[in-house]
Amino acid sequence: MKNFNNKLAVITGAGTGMGRELARALAREGADLALCDVIDANMVETLALCEAEAAQGRRMTAHHCDVSNEDSVEAFRDALRVQHKTDHIHLLFNNAGIGSVVSFVNGSRALWERTFNTCWFGVYYCSRAFMPMLVAADEGHIINTSSVNGFWASVGKGREHTAYSSAKFAVKGFSEALMEDLAVHAPHVKVSLVMPGHIGTRMVANTIKLTGEVQVDEALGDAFEQFAPTTSAQAAEIILDGVRKERWRILVGEDAKRLDELVREDPEGAYSDAFRERLFSEGVLNTLIEPNAPS
Ligand SMILES: NC(=O)c1ccc[n+]([C@@H]2O[C@H](COP(=O)([O-])OP(=O)(O)OC[C@H]3O[C@@H](n4cnc5c(N)ncnc54)[C@H](O)[C@@H]3O)[C@@H](O)[C@H]2O)c1
Repeated sequence: MKNFNNKLAVITGAGTGMGRELARALAREGADLALCDVIDANMVETLALCEAEAAQGRRMTAHHCDVSNEDSVEAFRDALRVQHKTDHIHLLFNNAGIGSVVSFVNGSRALWERTFNTCWFGVYYCSRAFMPMLVAADEGHIINTSSVNGFWASVGKGREHTAYSSAKFAVKGFSEALMEDLAVHAPHVKVSLVMPGHIGTRMVANTIKLTGEVQVDEALGDAFEQFAPTTSAQAAEIILDGVRKERWRILVGEDAKRLDELVREDPEGAYSDAFRERLFSEGVLNTLIEPNAPS
């Protein structure tokens, strides 16, 4: 898909962060939008920003949808069909996610499953619900947001990250396998896998808000956004550029690219102290991501 003019894009988790910036960039490029989120106030703000930046006559809708709940996803799809008067979409950005840190050994099972279900089943349910509408378009593209935690299952020493990492690995495996499935059954539909490094978004703040999680301090939410090496607007541009170029593998940020190289260079050592120290010395990991940084 070389440009997004007159295309209909679905974006999950469009309330803040990369989802919001994807929506704004697509609006500027002449796309119609169907946005969803669980935090309505943020999504209403995103919609207003998009309407202000878009050309006249574009159709933009906002929907309350919890992507971890299949009924909610199907209701979103059905409302979109009616409100956009269409049987097809061109772009599906499976972007919604939360980033809880919770132990599998003795942490809250409810929080573990909420994290996994949002990050994995969100992608799965939306892909199921919207696949027929992507196939019905003359060209389609599904963009699944994983993470560097889709190939490296850690946010540093002493931090439990099984729910998020397993979900993001699942998103990566699904997306890679889907390429061949689509090549056989719907070759006009492409897939891209997005693996961001540290991006300045509301992810930590939103996760605290949505889950009532107490393990992390609220000030970290602001710092996570403020001190990231890549902004969410820059991330959105990198993602859309990757989609235009039909890249299946979109690493977002220099930190993500370097981590990918280092893990490939030394897979066996990837969870050792020496590896982690190298990440710090090269600035790939910072103390915001890992408060227990080596001194
Ligand atoms: N920010 C980073 O450093 C980073 C790094 C790697 C991957 N990611 C991934 O990028 C994606 C976008 O996150 P972001 O960083 O822009 O954070 P964000 O919190 O700003 O945006 C995520 C959005 O998803 C929404 N959301 C959460 N649960 C939902 C649900 N059940 N249903 C619908 N919407 C829901 C949130 O309300 C929020 O608006 C996520 O999948 C995240 O895991 C982020």
